[in-house]
Amino acid sequence: MEVTARAPGKIILAGEHAVVHGCTAVASSIDLYTSVSLRLRSEGEGTIKLLNDTGLDFSWSIARIKEVLSHLGSPFSSTPTSCSLETVKSLAALVDEKSFPESKIGLASGVYAFLWLYTSILGFKPATVIVSSELPVGAGLGSSAAYCVALSAALLALSDSVKMDVSQKGWFTFKAKAELVNKWAFEGEKIIHGRPSGVDNSVSTFGNVIKFKTGVMTRIDSNMPLRMLITNTKVGRDTKALVANVSARKLRHPGAMSSVLNAIEAISDEWSTIIQSHAVDDLCLSANEEKLAELMEMNQGLLFSIGVSHASIETILQTAMEYKLASKLTGAGGGGCVLTLLPSHVSGAVVDKLVEELESFGFQCFTAGIGGNG
Ligand code: PMV
Repeated sequence: MEVTARAPGKIILAGEHAVVHGCTAVASSIDLYTSVSLRLRSEGEGTIKLLNDTGLDFSWSIARIKEVLSHLGSPFSSTPTSCSLETVKSLAALVDEKSFPESKIGLASGVYAFLWLYTSILGFKPATVIVSSELPVGAGLGSSAAYCVALSAALLALSDSVKMDVSQKGWFTFKAKAELVNKWAFEGEKIIHGRPSGVDNSVSTFGNVIKFKTGVMTRIDSNMPLRMLITNTKVGRDTKALVANVSARKLRHPGAMSSVLNAIEAISDEWSTIIQSHAVDDLCLSANEEKLAELMEMNQGLLFSIGVSHASIETILQTAMEYKLASKLTGAGGGGCVLTLLPSHVSGAVVDKLVEELESFGFQCFTAGIGGNG
């Protein structure tokens, strides 16, 4: 039996980092996906295999997994369950750290999340799992959330407890169970990121443009066309460390940081009001685009002030500014990706020139469809 699930990446339009501290963020899905194919194999083979397009493949004997996890009893659970630090250590013991080349050590937490979600949702059934992704890893486009959502969805589709509809294309669609997929994916995200807000897995599960605050997601229905250029700095960074640095800064400067975070929240609220109340006419479009451009500039300035910008991000901002275009980092910052708003009046030739200039610095530019299905 085989099932394939896929989940989209995301961009945060406003409010990253502040969302970890209970403020509103606005995020959107993008049409770049991570897919997980899961094939159950005959009992005789006794292994769980994880194959993926990062070039790292794993195979564990089920007997070994049971032995390492034995002190926990059976982790199999029909309700989303958090993974304790002790369990993460046990899962780490299953992964031969030496098999990770230096450049890929960061992927280890993704493998721990795999083992936790797998054994929790599907128990110890032998299977081959193949992961492939169109999303750059660790670039702020929600690759880890898309992976956790697609993995949870595929596992739940094959678990005895949940029945889902398989579409003719081979993708399965889920409606009633989306909440459950989202909750399990959040548990995986916690293993990978430590203290995630939940915005990434929510937007990947449900798609569209959403507003997110303290674990509560509201869908934003908008007919405002949004064109964004996404530029990947190709500077790798660690979301967990950046989130921890912001929390440490908040402890050192509680008053100043709370003002900054509140200002970011006001920007997110204005973002959602503008795109929600957008009327379809050209005048309204350019006025709203101007307002969003200003909000992006303000949001970026505040992100700089909490220490999550980077020289590569600043280079992109300056370059786009020469074209009178506003940009901000998206996701955790410290590298990763930058969004540049492309208002409707900006011609393709201008965008091509900007892309050429940015790519001459070694950055990678692309556009993606915004706000599709989860
Ligand atoms: O860079 P990403 O895709 O991991 O996004 C992180 C967004 C943060 O707000 C910084 C953290 C979070 O969990 O919301």
